[in-house]
Amino acid sequence: MARSGKVSVIGAGFYGSTTALRLAEYDIFDTVVLTDVLDGKAEGIALDMNQARWIEGFETKLVGQTTGPTGEGYEAIAGSEIVIITAGLPRKPGMSRMDLIETNAKIMRQVAENVAKFAPDCVIINVANPLDEMTALAQIVSGFPYARVIGQAGMLDTARFTHFVAEELNVPVSSVTTLTLGSHGDTMVPVASVCAVNGKPLSDLLSAEQIDALVERTRNGGAEIVALLKTGSAYYAPSAAAARMARAVHEDSGKVMPVCAWVDGEYGLSGAYLGVEAVIGRGGIRSVVETPLTPDEKALLVQAYEAVLAKQADVKDL
Ligand code: APR
Repeated sequence: MARSGKVSVIGAGFYGSTTALRLAEYDIFDTVVLTDVLDGKAEGIALDMNQARWIEGFETKLVGQTTGPTGEGYEAIAGSEIVIITAGLPRKPGMSRMDLIETNAKIMRQVAENVAKFAPDCVIINVANPLDEMTALAQIVSGFPYARVIGQAGMLDTARFTHFVAEELNVPVSSVTTLTLGSHGDTMVPVASVCAVNGKPLSDLLSAEQIDALVERTRNGGAEIVALLKTGSAYYAPSAAAARMARAVHEDSGKVMPVCAWVDGEYGLSGAYLGVEAVIGRGGIRSVVETPLTPDEKALLVQAYEAVLAKQADVKDL
């Protein structure tokens, strides 16, 4: 595939810079733009990454740009087909993602306003936490159609679930199928009924207690890493998820991915951003897919929906 297009990453912290490097190493974009409010940080990182091009064999160019609170520097993202928003504080040990809401909402307002102004045709992929609420806020502030604002969480949570199953059974991750829906938080719904190893149902291979333990570890997957790191949160698996979503948009791939998307009647639920499976293409979300669920899983998804609906109703005032 020939190289084309521009993708921008807002926030050059751990998550943003790792995402930018993954995108550049795909070697499918002309340009990856990385921005940050800290003077020179994005420029320095981009220069460093550009110097890796000859060694790693990719031609995509990275452009670093310092931005100001009232939009200074944002012209660098003009013409982006995709903008990934990573700007925001990460958790500290003991914090829930919801503890970040006020600080990150202020950052999101500023960022989404400028993204809408300077890259009005892009697809926004939000990764800032609390994920479901910040994705909803990105849509409200940008005024973009729902399909063009997506959140990254389900790919990551599913990847974590898959890792834990593969470790438990000592099998390759490629043989494992798992899925998580719902919110990126307490009401995450790991969908055990669709989980399988080489097509064999997980319930044939592990006891209900073992599956419950893996589900619980998946729900706390982010907090487990935050507790180990002591400062900051995960970014290697998260950036892999965000970069793959951006790639699916760029390639108009039609891949089905678990993402945070606007529901409009699917599962009988409407009017909120929720973790669901969706078909991803050039315009963002092509359609939301209704995965068959057991009655218990459906009840958990409805619980997740009710929880995010209540929180998302408040974000417009933040
Ligand atoms: N515009 C651009 N960049 C900003 C802004 C802003 N208005 N405000 C803050 N930043 C930058 C910071 O300067 C910092 O470089 O965002 C970056 C955040 O980086 P880290 O602190 O390393 O955090 P990171 O691990 O990258 O997480 C970013 O992703 O997983 C979520 O919860 C996490 O919300 C957090 C986000």
